[in-house]
Amino acid sequence: MSVKKKFLDYFASKNHLIIPSFSLIPLNDPSLLLINSGMAPMKKFFLGQAKPPSSRIANSQKCIRAGGKHNDLDDVGYTKRHHTFFEMLGNFSFGDYAHQEAIDMAWDFLTNNLNLPCEKLHITVHPSDKKSLEIWKKTPNVIHDNIVFEKENEWSAGEEGPCGVCTEIFYDHGGHIPGDITQGDRFVEIWNMVFMTDNVFNGVKTKLDKPCVDAGMGLERMEALCNGTNDNYEAPFFANMIKLISKNDIDNINNRIVADHSRSIVFMIDAGVSPDSEGVGYVLRKIIRRAIRRSINNNSIEICIDYIINNMSNDYPSLLKNREKIIKVFHDEKMQFLNVYNQGICKLNDYIDQGEIDEEKVFELYDTHGFPYDISFEIMKEKGISYDYDKFEKMTKKQKEFSKLKKYHVESKNRITEFVGYDCEKIESKILDIQKNDKTYILLDKTPFYVESGGQKSDSGIIETDSGVFEVEDMQKNDHEIWHIGKIIKGSIELGQTVTAKVDNIKRKGLKQHHTATHILMSILRKKFGNSVLQKGSSVKEDSLRLDFSMNDLIDQDSLKETTMEINRVIQDNIEISTNVTDYESAVKQGALITEKNYPNEVRVLKIGDISTELCCGTHVRSTGEIGLFAIKSHKSVASGIKRIEAICGMSAVNYYLYSEKQGKLSKSDDVENSAKSINRKEIKISNLNILIEQYSNANAKYLLGESDKYIKMHDLVILTNDKNAILVKVGDKIVKDAAEILRNIGGKGGGNKNLAQGKIEKINFNDIIDKFMSESEGMI
Ligand code: SER
Repeated sequence: MSVKKKFLDYFASKNHLIIPSFSLIPLNDPSLLLINSGMAPMKKFFLGQAKPPSSRIANSQKCIRAGGKHNDLDDVGYTKRHHTFFEMLGNFSFGDYAHQEAIDMAWDFLTNNLNLPCEKLHITVHPSDKKSLEIWKKTPNVIHDNIVFEKENEWSAGEEGPCGVCTEIFYDHGGHIPGDITQGDRFVEIWNMVFMTDNVFNGVKTKLDKPCVDAGMGLERMEALCNGTNDNYEAPFFANMIKLISKNDIDNINNRIVADHSRSIVFMIDAGVSPDSEGVGYVLRKIIRRAIRRSINNNSIEICIDYIINNMSNDYPSLLKNREKIIKVFHDEKMQFLNVYNQGICKLNDYIDQGEIDEEKVFELYDTHGFPYDISFEIMKEKGISYDYDKFEKMTKKQKEFSKLKKYHVESKNRITEFVGYDCEKIESKILDIQKNDKTYILLDKTPFYVESGGQKSDSGIIETDSGVFEVEDMQKNDHEIWHIGKIIKGSIELGQTVTAKVDNIKRKGLKQHHTATHILMSILRKKFGNSVLQKGSSVKEDSLRLDFSMNDLIDQDSLKETTMEINRVIQDNIEISTNVTDYESAVKQGALITEKNYPNEVRVLKIGDISTELCCGTHVRSTGEIGLFAIKSHKSVASGIKRIEAICGMSAVNYYLYSEKQGKLSKSDDVENSAKSINRKEIKISNLNILIEQYSNANAKYLLGESDKYIKMHDLVILTNDKNAILVKVGDKIVKDAAEILRNIGGKGGGNKNLAQGKIEKINFNDIIDKFMSESEGMI
């Protein structure tokens, strides 16, 4: 029997609910790019934000540690037991059992079920954790001399979230292997029990309502141990894979890296990730590049991908479904990378041969040729060339600050463009410089065009001369130079010409409306919910606004309505907006709300009557009446303690009130429909699937059916319930499972066909349905 099965069977026998792995992509958790531990997808249960499907859960969770707080990328291949992708077997208690039972079960499973010899097991305990220490000492057959204190025994998945002290179990592979419990290959950590007591947020710890247990055992290490080795790559799964790409050269670092990284590649693409220049897509790109560099044969990674899909699809059936996609995404990225790689590696080798390689050269290769710096450093490390990573990082930081403003490459010569866009949207001006590569870049001496900053998007518009017309698509600021980026759409444009620069005033109007509305929204939220509500980010577009703010609980429907009402009242009151430029200190004296950390000495204060005073360099309406109308489109949680409102103004809001589906139903005459009301709504994205779960009050089955017809056009799976016991499941083409099966999986009774199932569910609780859905979702869709 496999270790995984033994583990899950054991904890099932201890009354744990066995659930499938959650997706590798965290849901609503911006603090993590990828799930990096068994507990990460269950944070909401630890924090009491959602009810777990059981107070005892066990599973095997897909994890990737290739960035952030837990990053094993650089160790992979060099050690016997590090991986980017791995499976974490875990048992969890949400306010159920605590130290005693957690330790008892761990010890029982290891010694009685896996039959590990007690004397081989060593234990670390946090010095403050007297409870665990006492329990370990009283546990039969624990060798007291094998218990040591370890002050680093504290655990959390990221910089924020649930955390606590932990006690770990190590296996001693024997004195012939060098190392002690803190380093080397002799002692391998096989079990970690975290006693979750706190939630850390912004560096501040608050107590959890109920203490919880998060215990984890790395599957690959255990597989190795049960196969009599301390080397994960010698266990059959990896050894057999490596045999396929080399003549069984397991010790070769390159082969280990290729085998390991191929699993991350397979599972990340399976989870819907595509290679990209930032975020999780960048992690995938980096892993693909490192794997390519290490593959000795041209098609080693392809062979591994095939092996992994064939050998892991029993546990993860989606791998079979996504086989083609996985192969294609990898192949496209490989082809693109090989071009950059082949050029860069020649240059790098030249620098190395001539003894010229240093941080600056690595930076140059990276900045101008796109050659990955981690690969340069890796090669330097292999060749024994020392380097100062901090020095390199300083260079990239400087460049990043610059390139935040500098998406496009234009040569800046410290000229000055005067921004006149607060007072006008059209102006005569002179061309100071024109540059061309893939796009055309025009520098003016004066411009009404706003460059993206403070969340407000850039203006677009046109620049006209006697001889031609230029369409402005984007803007960029380089120091004091303001560049207009776009294309000549008529005739020609020459250096030195006089131009008319004209902002697209319809777009500008939308930007102004949404920007001023963002300030009003912020002030009304603070007025209603207190000054602890602070702005955490915003995005102002011509047709929508998004505001992120600190708040613990979601705002209820009634308060959202009141907020909408109050904002529209401010709009009706047509309050005048004024600005003044002053120094930072007097702005603070004027009561300006400070939302960012660093402000220059000279700041612009924007006042909306006595409603709001903020520092802001954006463009705004002259009086609130110009906003016209305000509507909240959505409200949700984006991170623990951070909520988001998306709203629209002006004609976009008029359209929304007139035509949106939610509002549309108000005008229907049917009695039920007139009073049916959405009381809970959750949109979930799993891989590339859009899932809607919504609950209504005063809705009958016919009404749910009507709604599902509308929603299925924009979603792949729709689950609707009322507040009695009716439930409906409708599925689109991308879902493999039948609607009737999904209905049953979430606990409903009833029937239907592939696309539609209707039935009843006992004691409907919206959160229970979501939890049930989330925990079963892997097999379900
Ligand atoms: N979260 C802990 C770990 O990953 C225990 O599961 O080590």
